[in-house]
Amino acid sequence: MATTILVGAQWGDEGKGKIIDVLSEQADIVVRYQGGNNAGHTVEVGAEKYVLHLIPSGILYPGKLNVIGNGVVVDPIALWDEIEGLRRRRVAVDNNLFVSETAHMVMPYHRLLDEIREEQKGHRKIGTTKRGIGPAYSDKVARTGLRIGDLLAPERFAERLRRKVRENNEIFKAFGHRPMRFQTIYDQYIAIGQKLKPFITDTVTLLNRAVRDNKNILFEGAQGTHLDIDFGTYPFVTSSNATAGGACTGSGIPPNRIDRVVGVMKAYTTRVGEGPFPTELHDEQGTALRETGREFGATTGRPRRCGWFDAVATRYAVMVNGINDLAVTKLDVLDNLPKIKVCVAYKCGRKLWETMPTDIDVLMRCQPVYQEFDGWRCSTRHVLEFDQLPKRARVYLQRIAQLSGARLSIVSVGARREETIFL
Ligand code: IMP
Repeated sequence: MATTILVGAQWGDEGKGKIIDVLSEQADIVVRYQGGNNAGHTVEVGAEKYVLHLIPSGILYPGKLNVIGNGVVVDPIALWDEIEGLRRRRVAVDNNLFVSETAHMVMPYHRLLDEIREEQKGHRKIGTTKRGIGPAYSDKVARTGLRIGDLLAPERFAERLRRKVRENNEIFKAFGHRPMRFQTIYDQYIAIGQKLKPFITDTVTLLNRAVRDNKNILFEGAQGTHLDIDFGTYPFVTSSNATAGGACTGSGIPPNRIDRVVGVMKAYTTRVGEGPFPTELHDEQGTALRETGREFGATTGRPRRCGWFDAVATRYAVMVNGINDLAVTKLDVLDNLPKIKVCVAYKCGRKLWETMPTDIDVLMRCQPVYQEFDGWRCSTRHVLEFDQLPKRARVYLQRIAQLSGARLSIVSVGARREETIFL
């Protein structure tokens, strides 16, 4: 495996949790490199279902090291809740979980700012998860953020926090919200810092030593390519680099140490939150996909918007991430459909687009150009080998991989570990 980056090739919720879990078996270390607890990775192990928000999915395998890298924004309260939740379910989290001392923190004022900014945008809102992710990254870039390591330096933490609380209380007052109390936040965070102390470390050195020792490292991307701050459908994006490049800046592993990039994509497309979605289905077909695929957000429970597979979007994802291998998930959701469509290009006016337009106004006006496939109309749930899949399913899979421009390597036909086909 060496070093492998796993990214979402669509708008998030591609089923990365399941694929990461399957690949974790061969990994020594699993690393989160961006995003925060806006993510929700669902993993089913036997009869147990876990939803992980900050902790890498490798935690569910005994003996793996799990790292929350410097590029992640960590809500320490949420992290502690997740640690406690796993402990209650007898998942070991001691000596196998580390969080970067330089990861920035999501603070209570970030969550309120997220809410206020969304409210202010009215119908132009982004539809964020309201976890404070955007405001936390804003502070990081503005160089006024607080980092996990600050929790272990109380004087420095107090000084910086006091300034941030004062600054944000001015904003809260202006929008009719109650001010926040410095002391309440300080006490709560210092206490949580003490609890998290055994987990906090220099993960950059830890990871580079692991690379030197030829350990297998799996980078777990959160969200997806089209939610990336640079390559996504800006401004309807998240605030970090969910794409492969983010794995380097978010962990401290240099680019020349990356061996492989795996892109995860659903056999159709979904999106939560606002923003362009050219293949969205507004009819009963979309509702059927949502119901069959149980398409409701793992973090917020919101119904996901559903549509046909968009090969223009995945081709772009293969390009910007350097995806070598594709993992297609939720093929089984299409099992009963008589006809299945795939978007092969966009049309805007008289112009045909085979790559993603970067101008969002153009993208909003794009109409999908479809290729239609006959459905296979039988269950794929228990198929273990690619050759045993119905011919029409194989044709469909090979075509979406070919259109995307990378090798088809994994097909997932159910939520459980066993329901995975390796090519
Ligand atoms: P934020 O990351 O909470 O700021 O939300 C920005 C956009 O990214 C919104 O459209 C969210 O719905 C979307 N988003 C954030 N995290 C995820 C995720 O894990 N899966 C899918 N969409 C996400």
